[in-house]
Order: sequence, then structure tokens, then C-alpha cells
Amino acid sequence: MFAKIAPPEGDRLLALMSRFRADPRAHKIDLGIGIYMDAAGRSPVLAAVKEAERRIWENETTKAYVGALGHPTFNGAAETLVLGDHPARAEGRVRTVQTPGGTAALRVAGDLIAGQFPGTTVWMSDPTWINHAPGQRAAGNAVRQYPYIRATDRGLDADGMMAVLEAAAPGDVVLVQAACHNPTGVDLAQADWTALADLCQRKGLLPLVDNAYQGFAAGREEDAAGLRMLAGRVPSMIVTTSFSKTFGLYRERVGAVTLIGETPDAVGRAEAALAAVIRANYSMPPHHGAAVVAVICLDDTLRHVWETELEAMRTRLLAMRGALAAALAARGADGGYLTRQRGMFSYTCLGEKRVARLRERHAVYLTDDGRMNIAGLNDGNLERVAEALAEVAET
Ligand SMILES: Cc1ncc(COP(=O)(O)O)c(C=O)c1O
Repeated sequence: MFAKIAPPEGDRLLALMSRFRADPRAHKIDLGIGIYMDAAGRSPVLAAVKEAERRIWENETTKAYVGALGHPTFNGAAETLVLGDHPARAEGRVRTVQTPGGTAALRVAGDLIAGQFPGTTVWMSDPTWINHAPGQRAAGNAVRQYPYIRATDRGLDADGMMAVLEAAAPGDVVLVQAACHNPTGVDLAQADWTALADLCQRKGLLPLVDNAYQGFAAGREEDAAGLRMLAGRVPSMIVTTSFSKTFGLYRERVGAVTLIGETPDAVGRAEAALAAVIRANYSMPPHHGAAVVAVICLDDTLRHVWETELEAMRTRLLAMRGALAAALAARGADGGYLTRQRGMFSYTCLGEKRVARLRERHAVYLTDDGRMNIAGLNDGNLERVAEALAEVAET
């Protein structure tokens, strides 16, 4: 029976990872994989996480089931991180549900939409995170794209985006990223968030905001400003949050769906429908990572340790962006886009041939679409990356 199964389309990111591992050159540089790395090239366990784990290990008294909606304390803490003291919370129009990572948050949100509103189209940026379209299609939603990045200056094509979204029908979903857009590093400015809110209100669209890097761009509160404004303008909205990067909890699978409804009754209905989707899928989320986040957020000292660690990640990314832009400028090459783009990724717009040249001639690995993980840069490799980028730019 299984012999009839056709091989799946290859995962280009996994293929790139194996290619990097197989490359015998000692000076190879990995700017492809999408995880945060420190100045020594490691993805360490945060000190706040280690301490929270110690406390959990000492105090945990049961491994009983947690329920489809997950850890209530985590859900409250996650909601505060995402929305702060947004008035919709006091109005009883918000519910937050724990999920296994941001990926599952997006998937169960997609399942909820497909189940309740069959035939919905989810609009997403071109390009976007590699898993957005497969996840929404698997849920049963139609997928369409809106233009996002201008090749000329590697900035936001706001006019193109809004013009194409005019074709969206009432009830369609607009998927946007809260901050640190993956793969481009190009974010909506305040005026773009306002234009998006106007459009969603006027056309009756449902915003689905993917919040995977809160605190990596301008700061924890600043990075949520756009989505919070949007939540104040539209009757209903969904936010999916990943805690993989911000708490360094990748493999623990920690995420959340935040539902904002038009009334307390409406959001209660959405939460109940989401619980049913989850129950029929993975039943309930894993506990450990969410417990870690809850312990950190509820303890002032640990919270401060985490905030300091998050801020260190943010400022390291900023420093690497500035240093690479300066190193490129010193070679007469344009790196201005690096300091305009934000977060962990920059889109070089190099094209596949130049990306291949970077890899083959210089042992510098980017993803095929030209996405560069800024966190892979450090003082030891930055000049070589600048040299390689300047050389391929000339070819
Ligand atoms: C934009 C975006 N959304 C969601 C995710 C999902 O993250 P996870 O499932 O690891 O929490 C990622 C991970 O790379 C991402 O970049």
C-alpha cells in the first residue's frame, strides 16, 4: 500500500541544512537556518529558562492532563505580552489558548476558519514564511498572495499590497506578520498599519497576525503596537504567537492563539470551536515550555532576567546589521537595506545564481530566496561575509 505513495516535494530548507553539514570547508558560514545564535554561534538555553526549569522540577507534583486550552496561567501571561492592557480585554472580548508553537497556532486558527467559514481565502505576503501557505492549504483554506517587497530599494511595497488586497472579499482573512517579517525583515510602518485597519474595516476582512518575534525589532511593547492598534479598530481578529525565538524554547513547542471577538459571547463561541478543533487534532498541548514561560512572567526577578536577555538578542542583531552595512559601504557596496530591515532576517534580493555563487565560491550559506539570518553573523565572520556579498554583487 505505502509503495504507491508519491515522494513529497523536497523541503529546500532541510536540503540546505544537509548541504551545509556535508560541506567539508572549515570556514563555512551558516546564515540559512532560522534560529537565533549568540556571538559564539550557539543557540543557548536562556538563564531565565534554566532557573524556571529548576523551580518546575522541584515543585511539580503531577503530570495529569492539562486540557485542550492548555495552561491557564500561561494563557493569561501570553495575552498580557501580546495585548498589554488593551481595552478589549477589560470588555471581555479576548481569549488566549496555548498551542504547540506558532506553527500549530497558525494551523488550528486555519482549521477554525475553514471549519466555520468554508471557502475562505487567506491572503498572505509574497514572499512569506515557508510554512504559511502549506499550513493554510492543509487546513482547507484557499491561499492568495499580495505583493510585499520592492526589489528596487528592498522596502515595503505598501501601494502594491493595498491595491491587490482591494480584490479581497468580505470575510476573507489577511495574514500579516507583527514585526521582523520572515523572510524579508521588512515591516509595516505605523501608517501602513492604519491603512490596513481602514481596509479591513471597510471590506469586512479578518486580520490574522503572526507574532513570532515580539521584542526582536524595536522592543517588546513597540513590536506589538501595530497589532494592538488593529485590534482596537476591527470587530474580530486572531493573533498567533510563537515563543520559540523570544524565549529560546524552540523544541519545547510553545505558542498561543489569541482570539478577539465582537462581543464576549462571540469570542466564547470562537474559543469553544477552537477547543473542539484542538481536541480532534493533538488533544492538548505539551506542558513544560508553557510552564516555563508562566513561571518567568509571574516572577518579577525572573521576568527581569528574561527581559534583559531578550534585549541583548535584539541589540546584538542591531549591532550586526550596522556592522555589516558599514563593512559593505567600506567596499563600495550597498548595505543600506540591512539597517532599514528589522529582526533576525534580511532579504538580499540577490537571486538564486548569486546565492549559489556565495555558497560555492565563498562557503556562505543563505536560503535560495536570498534570506540571510543576521544572527549567524559575528565578529569572527562578518568581514568575510561582507567580502563575499560585495564580490557577488559585482558579478
Ligand atoms: C513568521 C513565523 N511564524 C511562525 C513561526 C513558527 O514558529 P514555531 O512553530 O517554532 O513556534 C516561525 C518560525 O520560524 C516564523 O518565522
